[in-house]
Amino acid sequence: MTYQDILTNARTCIGPYCKACPVCNGRACSNQVPGPGAKGVGDTAIRNYDAWKRIRINLDTIAENTTPDTSFDFFGHTMKYPFFAGPVGAVKLHYGDKLDDVAYNDILVSACADAGIAAFTGDGTNPAVMQAACHSIAAKGGFGIPTVKPWDVNTLREKFELVQASGCFAVAMDIDAAGLPFLQNLQPPAGSKTVEELAQVIKNAGKPFIVKGIMTVNAARKALEAGASGIVVSNHGGRVLDQCPASAEVLYEIAQAVGGKMKIFVDGGIRTGVDIFKALCLGADGVLIARPYVTAVYGGGAEGVILYTEKLGAELADTMKMCGAAKLSDLSEKYLFRPSNPFLS
Ligand SMILES: Cc1cc2nc3c(=O)[nH]c(=O)nc-3n(C[C@H](O)[C@H](O)[C@H](O)COP(=O)(O)O)c2cc1C
Repeated sequence: MTYQDILTNARTCIGPYCKACPVCNGRACSNQVPGPGAKGVGDTAIRNYDAWKRIRINLDTIAENTTPDTSFDFFGHTMKYPFFAGPVGAVKLHYGDKLDDVAYNDILVSACADAGIAAFTGDGTNPAVMQAACHSIAAKGGFGIPTVKPWDVNTLREKFELVQASGCFAVAMDIDAAGLPFLQNLQPPAGSKTVEELAQVIKNAGKPFIVKGIMTVNAARKALEAGASGIVVSNHGGRVLDQCPASAEVLYEIAQAVGGKMKIFVDGGIRTGVDIFKALCLGADGVLIARPYVTAVYGGGAEGVILYTEKLGAELADTMKMCGAAKLSDLSEKYLFRPSNPFLS
């Protein structure tokens, strides 16, 4: 199987909205929701993708000729690479009937663990989704990050019992899901949380807690104050608020403010190992990649997930080698190109 085979297969079974494009850049699906598109005019996912492409990197091979070390410490557990499959929920609605969330998460969690990385799993109104995801994570020795919606405290208590039994290394909450239409006006209520409410949630979780959906320095500081161990700089792929900046546009200043005090992850339009390299140079510890993993599962099942993971890992290692970086902790802004040529500016 090749990556092209994955795309070709996916086009036969991935529903009417996703086109399994050669490059997943948000253009063909635009504002298609249901579907993998973005909210409103639909240009935030496109902006996410384009922003990484605006950053260029510095080639330098006058360096030690070693194989770069891409291994990554995730709360005391070693992963092969500093990237994760991102959480995607309601796959049947957005990507067609081939899979439901239970089957999707099971393939993804298991294949990612076999590939040496971990998957974040999505959550939904159906409790069976979180139950099954936690079961899949437990079966893989805790390799997987259950991602809960910002439910009320009592609903979260039930979810955290499952989370704790799964043996996972960390739990996440997409706090920005407050912007999803299906979460509004629910009983019990779900949505925004104050710092105090979030602190209580984090205490109840009993695991390193990652807050997903941070787009400002102020929000990052609030997550830190509430006791989060990590954040995901993310605008949910443009699906929760129209006209956000790209995640790449805000990552650097957020990393400057809270880097070293908590783990910083980022997602949105990251598609290659070169993009991962750029994100780490801007201050991220790791990245999440969501939509392309759906294409990998639909088009190639477990084999597709492993193939795509290896493709990303090889691209990251190649980029590190070509820039003279031996290990992830070497990566910094010094590898990113700062234009200084007055004739081109
Ligand atoms: C169809 C779809 C469903 C998603 N469901 C979830 C979810 O349940 N929980 C979550 O935290 N993020 C969810 N996301 C957001 C992704 O995890 C990710 O933040 C976003 O897609 C940006 O990453 P990408 O550009 O690599 O896709 C979803 C995204 C899509 C496209």
